[in-house]
Formats: sequence, structure tokens, C-alpha cells
Amino acid sequence: MRAYLVPRKADDQLYGEVCQVPTRRLPDGDVLIAVRYSSLNYKDALAAQGHPGIVKGFPHVPGIDAAGQVVQSSSSRWPVGCEVLVTGYDLGAGRWGGWAEYIRVPADWPVALPTDRDAQWAMAMGTAGLTAALAVDSLIHEGIQPGTGPVLVTGATGGVGALAVRLLAHVGYEVAASTGKKDRHDWLKRLGASQILDRNELVAPKDKALLSARWAGAIDTVGGSTLATILRSLRPSGCVAACGLVGGPNLEISVYPFLLRGVKLIGIDSAWCPHARRVELWRRLAGEWYLDNWTELCRVVDWEGLVQAVPAILSGQLVGRTVLSVAP
Ligand SMILES: NC(=O)c1ccc[n+]([C@@H]2O[C@H](COP(=O)([O-])OP(=O)(O)OC[C@H]3O[C@@H](n4cnc5c(N)ncnc54)[C@H](OP(=O)(O)O)[C@@H]3O)[C@@H](O)[C@H]2O)c1
Repeated sequence: MRAYLVPRKADDQLYGEVCQVPTRRLPDGDVLIAVRYSSLNYKDALAAQGHPGIVKGFPHVPGIDAAGQVVQSSSSRWPVGCEVLVTGYDLGAGRWGGWAEYIRVPADWPVALPTDRDAQWAMAMGTAGLTAALAVDSLIHEGIQPGTGPVLVTGATGGVGALAVRLLAHVGYEVAASTGKKDRHDWLKRLGASQILDRNELVAPKDKALLSARWAGAIDTVGGSTLATILRSLRPSGCVAACGLVGGPNLEISVYPFLLRGVKLIGIDSAWCPHARRVELWRRLAGEWYLDNWTELCRVVDWEGLVQAVPAILSGQLVGRTVLSVAP
């Protein structure tokens, strides 16, 4: 099969390349899937560098998302011919992932492709879409409903960020988008943001325990000092769904926002999201949360385009989602 293979830990260099690999080297599992489309996520780019926090062994095939057709199965749940999608779990991390013509996975990982939706749509959503859906669902669960007040999205032009902006607007929220890309403000407005912030506005001096209360809620893909600023800027009983760490993994903050404003910090983990919840969220993404202009949020690349996109996502340059066409 054709696959993007990372031969070894590469000290922040990319040594991965597209090559032919024997399918017998795929890991054990119940279901063999012929991949039609995969996608590029920030985590995949780290895996393409052989990041030791993600990749457990070499050689490695990245790709935390895949959608395609079951071609071999020992599970009665997934007969040959089923159209399925797989995101997260250990795919593209502890085991070979979707940047290949085939994946083999345990029977409890796939989700049936929703009726009337195709594999390209599934990968335009991918882990980013499931993460945005988890974040929106979590805010709703914490009482941050449309009409409660503005909801801030950081890293707004990225995969998770852009889908979060679009989804929040679709559900009826007032959306503020924070970005470092000055030339993308109009694009973000078209997605549904009514207010745009430069990302530098979210790096506030650390000496103040509380900042002016602006946001009813937030979906944060940046972490670090940005997340600390958001927590200090939430309105009373506000809530932030923390998804990412492109700005850094450490969180330096006092407990004052929690004690004086009753704010909440909730973590989002799409990789190990329980199967029943992911099935429900994929049903919603394909149904009442279906984004009919989703093609504006994604571009489809071939193997060569994928190789070029990996360094671009690592330097924060990519916009929206990048879908890999494997065998459409
Ligand atoms: N928790 C989960 O389950 C989960 C799932 C998926 C992703 N994630 C995490 O979420 C984050 C985003 O993932 P993604 O796939 O959407 O990546 P992405 O497409 O690269 O988006 C990241 C965006 O963050 C902004 N950014 C980049 N570098 C930055 C910096 N140094 N400081 C502040 N902002 C910066 C950029 O947007 P602007 O130019 O618009 O600011 C960039 O487009 C990653 O940390 C990823 O690991 C977590």
C-alpha cells in the first residue's frame, strides 16, 4: 500500500516520505478499511516529526482520521462494504494511521458514515469537527446557551477554530474570533464571527487576578497565557472549553476567577471520547448541526500537497481544514 512513513525520531525535522509499504505490516485488528480520505491535524504534523509524546514506535504512519470502506472484517458489526469513519483513539499515534491506503483497527473504533454524507465531508470535519462539537455540546451542558452572551474562539482560522466559529454561529451564538492572520478577518466574518480580535489582545499582564468580564463562554485552541487571560475575562458563571496548546502547555493562573466569578474550565478530549457520545455528535454534525457551506472551510490535497502542508500547519500558516485524497 501507499503510505506516508516516518522512519525515526527526527529532532524537529521531517524525514517522512510517501512510499510503498507491505500491508502485512499493518497492526492486528478486527476491521481492515480501504481509506478514501484522511486529513491533516496539528497532532499529525507532530507525529510526522516523530514527536515522542505521540509516536510510540518506528517506523510510523501518522493520520488520526480516516474514512473509507470495510474490505475485511472479523466483526459482525462491520460487514464488508460498510462505509465508516474513524477518528482518534490510538489511530496515527500508538498505531499506524490514516495517511495510508489501508488501516486496520479494533471493532469498537469505527462509526458508521451518516446516511447522505460522504467520506470527504467526514474528513472535512474529522477530529477537528468532533472536537468543535464536543466543545459546543459542553458549553450548552454548562448553561452557556445562545443568547447568554459572546463566545470567544481562539486560533480561529485553524481547523478546530474555524469549525468552532462556524458551528457556534450555526447554532445561534454571538461569536468573537481571535486570530493572528490580519488578512483573514473577512473570511472569519463570512463564517459567522461578529467580532474579530488580534491574538495579541489576549496576552494580558499577569499582575491582575481579574480582567474586565467580557465572554459568556470560550473555545480555546491555544492554551498557555491565552487561556489564562480568557479565564480572567469570563463573565460570572462563564465557561471555557480548553482544546489545544499551540501557544504552550502551561497554565499560570490564580484561583480568583474561580472563587470570585464562579467560572469553569472544562477539558476536551476527542481522542478517547466514549463511543456512544461520538456516535451522537456525528449524528448531530450530519443532521441539525450540518454546515452546508463546509467546502469553503476545507481544501483537498494529494500526497504531494500533504507533504507541503505539514510544515505549514506547524508554523500556524494553514487556514481551515486540509483533507487528504487517498482513493476517492
Ligand atoms: N483536545 C482535543 O481533543 C483536540 C482535538 C483536536 C486538536 N486539538 C488541539 O487543538 C489545537 C489546534 O489544532 P488544529 O488541528 O486546529 O491546528 P491548526 O489547524 O494548526 O490551528 C491552530 C491555529 O492556532 C493559531 N496559532 C498557531 N500558532 C499560534 C501561537 N503560537 N499562538 C497563538 N495562536 C497560534 C493559528 O490560528 P490564527 O492564526 O487564526 O490565530 C492556527 O491556525 C492543537 O493544539 C491541537 O493539538 C485538541
